[in-house]
Amino acid sequence: MKGIILAGGSGTRLYPTTLVTSKQLLPVFDKPMIYYPLSVLMLAGIRNILIITTEKDMPDFQKLLGDGERFGINLSYKTQAKPNGLAEAFIIGGDFIGKDCVTLILGDNIFFGPRFSGTLKYRSKLIEKEGGACIFSYPVKQPERFGIVEFDREDKILSIEEKPEKPKSQYAVTGLYMYDNSVVGHAKELKPSERGELEITDINNIYLKNGTLRMEKLGRGFSWLDTGTHQSLLQAGQYVQTIEENQGIKIACLEEVAFRMKYLSRTRILNNIQNIKNNDYYDYIRKLVE
Ligand code: DAU
Repeated sequence: MKGIILAGGSGTRLYPTTLVTSKQLLPVFDKPMIYYPLSVLMLAGIRNILIITTEKDMPDFQKLLGDGERFGINLSYKTQAKPNGLAEAFIIGGDFIGKDCVTLILGDNIFFGPRFSGTLKYRSKLIEKEGGACIFSYPVKQPERFGIVEFDREDKILSIEEKPEKPKSQYAVTGLYMYDNSVVGHAKELKPSERGELEITDINNIYLKNGTLRMEKLGRGFSWLDTGTHQSLLQAGQYVQTIEENQGIKIACLEEVAFRMKYLSRTRILNNIQNIKNNDYYDYIRKLVE
């Protein structure tokens, strides 16, 4: 399974904050936003990851994350010229995906909840074994703002609609998607929607028609946080702060994930951070691995 983080877009809703930097590099409490989706891919056991961003912002992402060696992973980078739609990720990332399955995560999506790593690994293995696709749904208050999935009592998916005026359920399709290799071919055949984008919802509908689309419901006790507006970005930061300070743990600490997943040894981690002193984030890592 390969991984793609889509971190492009123009970030106009967050102007002037995003006039000179990418939205996905803004802080969510104590770390850059992209740490959160990157930790999700790492927790799924994915170590080969492509970051797609704009030409202007790519050098900053490279400065922050490098080739991934510091986290025991392999990072590569590609650019998206314009926000032509989420499904363009599979065209831009076609060579990178090669013959593998792929998980796509949006660079501004924050997931946090119990047993998530196990769920991700289970879903990833199932697709590698049996093919098909998997979406992750979550109940929301304003369904007209999202891709919406309708399903029956047995959780059989009935429909998926992009930002419907009359939503058929409260369950949004979150920005995390797993596909078998045929997603690359499907993306190449897509036509732009009315809003001029290659829609991920159209890809999901192809799998739905084929009878190979699965769904994992992320329910009560799970958090899927929005970072799309000034308010929600601040709230996400406050949420992370509350959890981290209450529990004395960190959410999306990449060095911790690398350590727990056995991607990096204790010695490697300590060496990598030895020069950074008087800093909560790095003191946490030191304490954890020691
Ligand atoms: O967040 C989940 C929702 O994401 C899903 O429920 C929807 O089905 C899906 O279409 C998408 O909804 P939005 O239309 O709200 O996505 P938005 O255009 O805000 O893009 C999401 C992120 O992806 C954003 O940070 C910018 C980035 N992006 C977006 C597009 C269209 C890119 O990097 N490239 C793009 O071409």
